[in-house]
Amino acid sequence: MPFFHIFYDEKLTFAAIQNVLMEVFKEIFPLKSYLKEGRKSGMSIGLVPTMGALHQGHLALIDESLKEADLTVATIFVNPTQFNNADDLEKYPRTLEADLKMLEQRGCHAVFVPSVEQMYPNLPELQFNFGKLESVMEGAFRPGHFNGVGVVVSKLFNIVQPDYAYFGQKDLQQYMIVNRLVDDLSFGLQLRRVPIYREDDGLAMSSRNRRLSEDGKKQALALYKSLQLAETMLKAGDSPADVQVAVEKLFDSHEVKIEYIEIVGLDTLEPVKNISDAGTVAVCVAGYVEDVRLIDNVIIKLDF
Ligand code: PAJ
Repeated sequence: MPFFHIFYDEKLTFAAIQNVLMEVFKEIFPLKSYLKEGRKSGMSIGLVPTMGALHQGHLALIDESLKEADLTVATIFVNPTQFNNADDLEKYPRTLEADLKMLEQRGCHAVFVPSVEQMYPNLPELQFNFGKLESVMEGAFRPGHFNGVGVVVSKLFNIVQPDYAYFGQKDLQQYMIVNRLVDDLSFGLQLRRVPIYREDDGLAMSSRNRRLSEDGKKQALALYKSLQLAETMLKAGDSPADVQVAVEKLFDSHEVKIEYIEIVGLDTLEPVKNISDAGTVAVCVAGYVEDVRLIDNVIIKLDF
C-alpha cells in the first residue's frame, strides 16, 4: 500500500507529543487500557474525531463533549481512504503541534494520533452502501468518500467505545451517514450534532480555509451569502427551482466555481420540489475557490 508512510513523520509526532502534558496515544492498545481504567471508575467517554488543522469549530465539539462526558478523547487522523483526490490529500493542512496545544488548553483529556499503519494494517476490503443517503451531493461528487468515512469512523467507535460522539453540522451528510451507521451496526452510543461555527463575517470555519488567500476568503463568503439568499427566498415561499436559479446567478459575479446547491429534506437529504409540505429543509452548497473545495449548509424550519 503506497500511502502507508507518506504523511506520517515519526520524529515530528514525537517532538509534538513531548510538548504537552495531556495524554497522547499513538497506538491502539495503550489507548484502550487508559480508557478501560476510566470506565472502571465509572467515567463516561466522549469522542471527537477530527483530521487535525484544528480551529474553533473543532473546539466547539470538544466543548460539547467536556460538558456532557467525563472523559473527552479527540482523534487526529488524516484518513487517506476518504480522499478521492490525491492532490487534496497531499495538500490537506497538517499542524499537529499547534493542534495538541489547542486541545490541551481547552481541557481535552486524551488524544489519539495514529499512523496510517496503525489504523490500516491492511487496506480494508469492507464496502458500505449507504443507499440513497450517499447518492446525492458529497456522495455523488466524491465517489468512495463516504465508504472511507464509514470505515474509519467504525474503527474509531470500536477502538474508543464512546458513550457520546460529536460531529459537526458543517458536514451534514457525513453526520446523517454516521447516524445510520450507529443504528445499522448498533454502536450503542449517543450521536450529537453540533452547529456550524463561523467566522465573524459568516464564513464557515474549515481546515481547508488555511489554503485560501485573504482575497479567496472574501470570495468564499459567496457560499454563505448564497445560503442567506436561499433562506430568505424559501421563507418568502419561493420554489426550490427559483432559489437555485437565483443562487447560481449570484455566483456568476464571484470567483467561486459552484458544484451544487441543493434544497433537501433534513431527514432524507432528498431534493425537495414543493416546500409547502417540506417541514425542515437543509440548503447545502459546495464549490471551489482558488482550487480549494468548500462546503456549507443551513437548516431551515419552514412552517407554511
Ligand atoms: P474534520 O474535517 O477534521 O472535521 C472533524 C469534525 O469537526 C466533523 O464532525 C466536522 O463536521 C466538524 N467541523 C468542521 N468544521 C466545523 C465548523 N465550522 N463548525 C462545527 N463543526 C465543524 O470530518 C472529518 O474531519 C472526517 O471526515 C472524520 C469524521 C474525522 C473522519 O475521518
